[in-house]
Amino acid sequence: MAECNLTIQDTSSIVSPGLVVFREIMNANLSEMLRESGDVSRLRPHCKTHKMKAVTKIQLELGITKHKCATFAEAEMLAESGVKDILLGYNLVGPNIQRAVSFVQRYPEIQFIATADHEIPVRQLSEAMSTAGQSMALLLDLDSGQHRTGIAAGEAANQIYRLFHELPGIEPGGIHLYDGQNHQTDLGERREAVLACWQIASDFRNQLESQGLSVPRIVAGGTGSFPVYASISDPALELSPGTNTFFDNNYGNMFPDLQYIPAARILTRVISRPTEDTITVDLGYKACASDPDVGKRVVFPDLPHAQPILQNEEHLVLRLENAGDFTPGDELLAIPGHICPTSALHKSAYVIENERVTENWEVSSRDRWLTI
Ligand SMILES: Cc1ncc(COP(=O)(O)O)c(C=O)c1O
Repeated sequence: MAECNLTIQDTSSIVSPGLVVFREIMNANLSEMLRESGDVSRLRPHCKTHKMKAVTKIQLELGITKHKCATFAEAEMLAESGVKDILLGYNLVGPNIQRAVSFVQRYPEIQFIATADHEIPVRQLSEAMSTAGQSMALLLDLDSGQHRTGIAAGEAANQIYRLFHELPGIEPGGIHLYDGQNHQTDLGERREAVLACWQIASDFRNQLESQGLSVPRIVAGGTGSFPVYASISDPALELSPGTNTFFDNNYGNMFPDLQYIPAARILTRVISRPTEDTITVDLGYKACASDPDVGKRVVFPDLPHAQPILQNEEHLVLRLENAGDFTPGDELLAIPGHICPTSALHKSAYVIENERVTENWEVSSRDRWLTI
């Protein structure tokens, strides 16, 4: 990872464990995302990484008008930030169907789109929307091989897409193609896998269009597949990376070809030196995502040989040779392994600009619902 300035002149206002965002690094990441996209109008970044109005507004100022999210709280955060084109990249079921109606009623000026991969919720949404005299667009969620959600391209998928044209209250929005399985470290291998996914989606699009069905967009990819999708020239293609706005350590290791630097870090303090070769810092799993293994949840660039040996809610014990050099109160900066669930664990982030804490950005949509 490239060198960057991580100096904070005065940390006295930072309550630890504190999420800190280095503004200059984030700006550089956003510039790199714009550069890689080739054209800002192709971008539809996912906000799950930051969940912050402040970051969304910066993206809007950069000319990024299309945005993606995974929850209604995130959709509401985007709407309240001024976004007029929102994709909720999530299949709507249960109360979320009525929430979709409330959302379009509340924000009539917003183009609101969601995903679907099954006939039943599509019919329920159609019923709810048309009863309310409303409508919204749906993307057919194609299973790209991750087998998380979606439906394989084929006759059943075709039938569902046809419903988007036929049912009242629903408009055909296009295709959703998220390939979270394409995490090959070798760029050549990743390219091959991503292009294979693209081939399936674009063939399917061609098939739908040959039947007179309209496919206005194909929303594809995350951060790892972004360089490959960005290299494809297709007017319908929208690029939906999320993590690259902040970036994190696990993606840094996984994708050495990407030119992003972790902009969000966690400031932590030594609270104890329990044995001769260990220190304990106030960075428990209530402050960093615990989906990676304990050894991959955070890394300390200043302690490359530190071995995490125990993490509890509010404690992280590190084994290191020079434990004796540390005193309670000493500060360290950690890079989160997985930033998206990490930001959700913090109410706000301290923003560092020109080496000083300049602002506090609320993590506006960390909760599952706000008002809708
Ligand atoms: C549906 C969807 N789209 C886009 C993204 C963004 O991907 P990444 O985190 O690799 O940038 C994600 C991430 O989980 C996702 O689930």
